[in-house]
Amino acid sequence: MSEGGSGHDSAVGSVPHRSVLLEESMHWLDVRPEGVYLDATCGAGGHTEAIAKRLTTGRVIALDRDEQALRIAGERLAPYGDKVRLVHAPFSDAERIFEDFKLDRVDGALADLGVSSMQLDNPERGFSFAGNEPLDMRMDPTRGEAAWRVLQTWPEAEIARVLFEYGEERFSRRIAKRIVEQRRGAEPFTGQSLRQLIVEALPAKARHQKIDPATRSFQGLRIAINRELEELETFLDTLVTRCRPGGRIVVISFHSLEDRIVKRRFRDWSKPEYGPSEGPPAPATRPVLVRVLTRKPVTPSDGEIEANPRARSAKLRAAEVLGSAE
Ligand SMILES: C[S@@+](CC[C@H](N)C(=O)[O-])C[C@H]1O[C@@H](n2cnc3c(N)ncnc32)[C@H](O)[C@@H]1O
Repeated sequence: MSEGGSGHDSAVGSVPHRSVLLEESMHWLDVRPEGVYLDATCGAGGHTEAIAKRLTTGRVIALDRDEQALRIAGERLAPYGDKVRLVHAPFSDAERIFEDFKLDRVDGALADLGVSSMQLDNPERGFSFAGNEPLDMRMDPTRGEAAWRVLQTWPEAEIARVLFEYGEERFSRRIAKRIVEQRRGAEPFTGQSLRQLIVEALPAKARHQKIDPATRSFQGLRIAINRELEELETFLDTLVTRCRPGGRIVVISFHSLEDRIVKRRFRDWSKPEYGPSEGPPAPATRPVLVRVLTRKPVTPSDGEIEANPRARSAKLRAAEVLGSAE
């Protein structure tokens, strides 16, 4: 597992940002010029723009739970006028968005998961372990609880669970214990103070690793704070019923927990479902819903990784929707 992140080839303001697997995602999305598309993760708008460029009468609805990202993307996407609609929402709200737009189905959907460089690299957003601000980690700072507050209030066992399950941190219990010991009456944790605490909680031999020793814990916390896995599950379950037959779902993930969810859902939906196995053979209770287009995940080329090291853990999977689960 490793941190994700993405960007595009030009500078947005002063923040460089490179879109990951841009050509590959357009290939698998197979945009129809008159189609309607959902970009679930607008970010700086790199993928949204690539979709918009391929449209004639079609349009793309681009979501992001981060208003700051939408402001930046808005400037970039202004030349595309009505072809692009930006919406501030988590992508688990996709069902409501279909209703708001009086949309029955889309011709395809893309999700480029995780955080953007604009979030990770901006100390004011409180994501990084170099930060000296209270640790926030929310992609949408207008909703939910900041990380520092969670660390002040959650039970030790819950903190340990999150670090272990979402961060795959094997010293999760030691770290959670130390957090609870140090949090009483303390200032809110910052990126720096939490990182320091984590390093001190680790056995000496685990302090020197290829990646920063706090990486796993920070990732685990971020996934929990933003409910990233639940978001992804809801998104996929919505889109499998909301893509027209022949439409495509394309997902770029950045760590194994996300990739596993996509892989399993696509695999399960590519087979029919039967009721209990006893009794005479019965018809399927659910037909095949998708055709998996990428047997193995598509990964970035060496050239892309060299130009954008954050792309190194990206995995793209695509499926074509065959029918409706409704
Ligand atoms: C990797 S960036 C996307 C970059 C974008 N594809 C581009 O080319 O610029 C991921 C973006 O998705 C947003 N995001 C992540 N999870 C989300 C969710 N559940 N709902 C809505 N937006 C989400 C983040 O706020 C971030 O801006």
